[in-house]
This record gives sequence, structure tokens and C-alpha cells, in this order.
Amino acid sequence: MAAEKMGTTLSTFIIDEQRRLGDQASGLFTGLLNDIAIACKGISNLVNKGDLAGVLGTTGTENTMGDAQKKMDLIANDLFIDALENNGHCAGMASEELDNVLCLPEGKPRGPYLVTFDPLDGSSNMDINMDVGAIFSVLKAPEGVQCPTAEDFSRPGVEQVAAGYCLYGPSSMLVLTTGNGVNGFTLCSSIGEFILTHPNMEIPEDTSEFAINMSNQRFWEQPVKDYIADCIQGEEGPLGKRYNMRWVAAMVGEIHRILIRGGIFMYPIDERNREAGGKLRLLYEGNPMAMIVEAAGGAAYTGYERILEVKPNGDPHQRVPVIMGSKNEVEKAMDYHRNA
Ligand code: AHG
Ligand code: MN
Ligand code: MN
Repeated sequence: MAAEKMGTTLSTFIIDEQRRLGDQASGLFTGLLNDIAIACKGISNLVNKGDLAGVLGTTGTENTMGDAQKKMDLIANDLFIDALENNGHCAGMASEELDNVLCLPEGKPRGPYLVTFDPLDGSSNMDINMDVGAIFSVLKAPEGVQCPTAEDFSRPGVEQVAAGYCLYGPSSMLVLTTGNGVNGFTLCSSIGEFILTHPNMEIPEDTSEFAINMSNQRFWEQPVKDYIADCIQGEEGPLGKRYNMRWVAAMVGEIHRILIRGGIFMYPIDERNREAGGKLRLLYEGNPMAMIVEAAGGAAYTGYERILEVKPNGDPHQRVPVIMGSKNEVEKAMDYHRNA
């Protein structure tokens, strides 16, 4: 057996990248990403301890969208806020677990970035000891804004300056893009550092693996019904190949699998979620994941438009339909929508 891998740490990687980009060397962006990494390490530590740390179960409260909150949803949310509010790197945050956007309290040092996050994605997996994750997106705060409002966060995904996720699986991995490629770092728990293990992650263009919650089939729109029916027909059907299916029930797990071996992930608009606009949230699920997927050579649409171009409506919890993953497969699914 080989010894444990060592190498470039996340901090070194970010500093090098900042230098390469000739960023005004303010260090604030590097600092911000470090804050996020610290939140992810804190969450990883507790998620790993599970019941030993008393973090399983629910709180009896609901978030603004009516989802029952798990203990770990709130703990992860607090860890993100703690990591971000004291260092002068950001001016405000929006989170799945906060009703409204958070402007840093008076007296806290403010910086030029806005951060949105889903502190614990797939939280229904927490109690069954399955994959969970965190998703984050970074925007530049509008010039001169001291105390950001929901309006300041309402910017299309193309304006994100960084996006990433941390997967808490058998190992914890932070995957990051600043728009120029996607890199994956594995947490070495003995030294407490994320180490670059997956440089330049690229999504294979072709796949024969789909991920969709099949129990919603009867609510889907016709193009999704037709596409999945054709996948299931396998070699005999018009798509001419046998498909496999996976459902982790945590978007972070699905997107990570797709970054490693390809695939298509869909949470489309359907009759149940139509009024809400979809299931997944635009600012802290759809946009950051679309940025990562596109930066890794994949594609990300709502079924009708590019996710990164969706115009936000001012609600930090706005929802969006999602079809993303391997480019050629996503284009196939889009053809069903275009030809409908
Ligand atoms: P969250 O736990 O942050 O609310 O997100 C869960 C999301 C997403 O990650 C996952 O793909 C989907 O909900 C699972 O939905 P089902 O309940 O339909 O399986
Ligand atoms: Mn989520
Ligand atoms: Mn969540």
C-alpha cells in the first residue's frame, strides 16, 4: 500500500491562482475561500462523528420553504455564518436556512463579496449515514453596497466569481471553480487540510447513466416522460444503448458522480412543483452547480434555457428546474424539449 498522498493544499492552490490571475493581491478572495473551507471542515468533523456528536435528528422547526429542519441543517448553517462573519471578506450571505438575506451586523468587518450557500444538502440522508454535502456560490457585492439586500443577491449565475461544493462521503471532498476549470481536494483529517487530488476535473461528454426521482414520473412534462421512457427502452429504443440509473437524493452526490464518470441529473419542472418553479433553489443549488458543470465541460439547462442565464426574481429562495451533466446527453434531453 502506498503511503497517504500529500501535495498542494487548497490554501496554496488558491494563493497561486490569485497570483496567476494578477488579482490586485488584496487577499480578500483567498481569505473568503479559506473561510468557506473552514466551515466545510467543521461540518465534516461533526457529520463524521454522527450520533456521537449528537447531530442526528430534527429540531421540530421548519425553514422558510416549509422543509423540516434537521439539527445538522442548523449547525452547518451556523458554522458557515461563524466562518464568514468575522474576517472582513464578505458583506452578506443568503442561505437555505435563513428566511432573509443576512447583512453583517454593525461592528463586523465587511468585505466585497456576497456568499450564498446550502449548508447541508441532502439532509434527509443524515440520519441514515449516507452522503450529504454543502454547496456555495460567491458574487461580488455591488460597488458601494455596505448592507446587501435580497436585490443585491438577485443576479444571474453568469455573474458568479466562484462556486463549489463539499461532499461528505466516505471521504470529504471540496470541489471548486473560479470559472477556469474545476479542481477537487480531499480532506486529510490527520493534518486538517484539503489536498489537491483531482486537478482539472472534466465531465465525459457521453454517458449512459441518468439520475431522476422516478416516483415523480406521473407529474413530469411530456418531454421528460418521453426522454426517460426512451432511456429505459435501452438498446431496443431510439437512443440505442442500455442505461443505468442512480439516485443519491443529495444533489452534491449526484454532481460529484457526474464529474467523475459522467451522467445526467434531472430535477425537472413538474405538475407538483410548477407553481413553486421547480424543486431546487436557484441561488444556492442551481447556479453554483451549473457553474461547476459548465466549467468542467458539461451543460446545464432548465429544459428551456441555460440555468446561468435565468433572471432572478428577488426571492433568495427562488426555485429552478434542473437538467445538467454530460454535454451530449443533456443536449439529447434538450432536443425532446425543443421538439415538443
Ligand atoms: P436539501 O436537503 O438541501 O433540501 O436538498 C435536497 C434536494 C437535492 O439535493 C436532492 O437532489 C433532492 O432534494 C432530493 O429530492 P427527493 O426528496 O425528491 O429525493
Ligand atoms: Mn439542497
Ligand atoms: Mn440543505
